[in-house]
Amino acid sequence: MSMSEMRKTALAMVARGQGILAADESTGTIEKRFKSINVENTEPNRQAYRDMLFTTKGLGDYVSGVILYDETLRQKSKAGVPFPELLKKNGMIPGIKVDEGAKDLALCRNEKVTEGLDGLMKRCAEYYKMGARFAKWRAVITIGDGTPTTTCIAANAHALARYAAICQANGLVPIVEPEVLMDGNHGIERCQEVTEWALNAVYEALYINRVSLEESVLKPSMVISGADAKRQAPVAEVAERTVTVLKRCVPAAVAGIVFLSGGQSDEIASEHLDAMNKMFKGNLPWPLSFSYGRALQHASLNAWRGSTANVAAAQAALLHRARMNSLASKGEYRPDLEKNAA
Ligand code: 13P
Repeated sequence: MSMSEMRKTALAMVARGQGILAADESTGTIEKRFKSINVENTEPNRQAYRDMLFTTKGLGDYVSGVILYDETLRQKSKAGVPFPELLKKNGMIPGIKVDEGAKDLALCRNEKVTEGLDGLMKRCAEYYKMGARFAKWRAVITIGDGTPTTTCIAANAHALARYAAICQANGLVPIVEPEVLMDGNHGIERCQEVTEWALNAVYEALYINRVSLEESVLKPSMVISGADAKRQAPVAEVAERTVTVLKRCVPAAVAGIVFLSGGQSDEIASEHLDAMNKMFKGNLPWPLSFSYGRALQHASLNAWRGSTANVAAAQAALLHRARMNSLASKGEYRPDLEKNAA
C-alpha cells in the first residue's frame, strides 16, 4: 500500500528529534506579546518578527514545521520570498491555524467553544494551494467551579472533529488541540480527570466524523497542577500522570503527540517533555514531542525588541530553545546545558 501524502506529512512532523514551532498568534495575541517588549503592533513589525524567526539558520534541524496565521502565510520575507516557500527551503513544513478563536459558549458561564467551521472547506482548499500541508484548531477547556460542563466538552470535541475531517478532505494533516487551561487553583488530580474526559470525547467524535487517525497529530496540554494550586506537582509526577492519560485515551494509530506549553516556563516545558521521554523510552506507540509557542519564542522575543541590531541574538535564543526541546523529545535534555547557551 503506498503511503498517502498526508501520512508522510504527519510522520515528518514528528520525525525523531523534531517538533513544531507555533508562530500562529492572531493579530490580537501578537499585540499582547509585542506590548511586553514595547513594539507597536503593525503589519511591517509582524513581518519583521516572523522574518527573524523563520530565517534562523539551522532551525530546520530541530523544527519540522511551523504553524502560521493567515496573514503570515500571505506575507513575504524581507528578501521577497513568500514565507511558506522560505520555510520549505529551510527544511520546515508550513502549517496554518484555521480556527477563528474561542468564543463564549451559550448558556455556559465562563466557558468557550472554538468557532470557524463556516466556510472552512473553501479556506482549507486555498491554504493547500498556498503551500500549507497541515493545520491547527485549538479548543480551550476551563477548570473551575462547576466547569467544565458536559456541554463544553461535547461542543468542542464535535468542532475539533468536524475541523479535522474538513482538513483531511483537502489534503491537510489536522493538529487536534484540546487545551485544558492551567489557570485556577485545582490540584493535578483534577487536571488529570478533565484531560481524560476531554480526550475520550475527542477520539469518539473523530471516529464518528471518519477522521483517519494515521493522518492526524494530537496537541494536548500536559497534566499539571493549576497555576495557583498550593501544591505544585514535581516533574516526575507530571510526566507519569500525563503519559497515563495518553495511554488510556489516545489510539496507537495516531501519528504523534506534540505538546503545547500553555504558560509553563521555558525550562520547565523542556524538563516535562524530557522526563516523559526518559521514563517511557521506546515503550509508547507514538513519539512525544513539542509544538510550543511561548516556550520557544519567549527568550527570542525578549532579545529582539523590534530592532534589526538584535536579530542575531534573537535567532540564537530561538535556536537554543529549539535544540533544548529537540533533546527533550529524545529524552536527552540536561538542565546544565542551559548554562552553555550561546
Ligand atoms: P503555547 O505553547 O504558548 O501554549 O502555544 C501553543 C499553541 O499553539 C497554542 O494554541
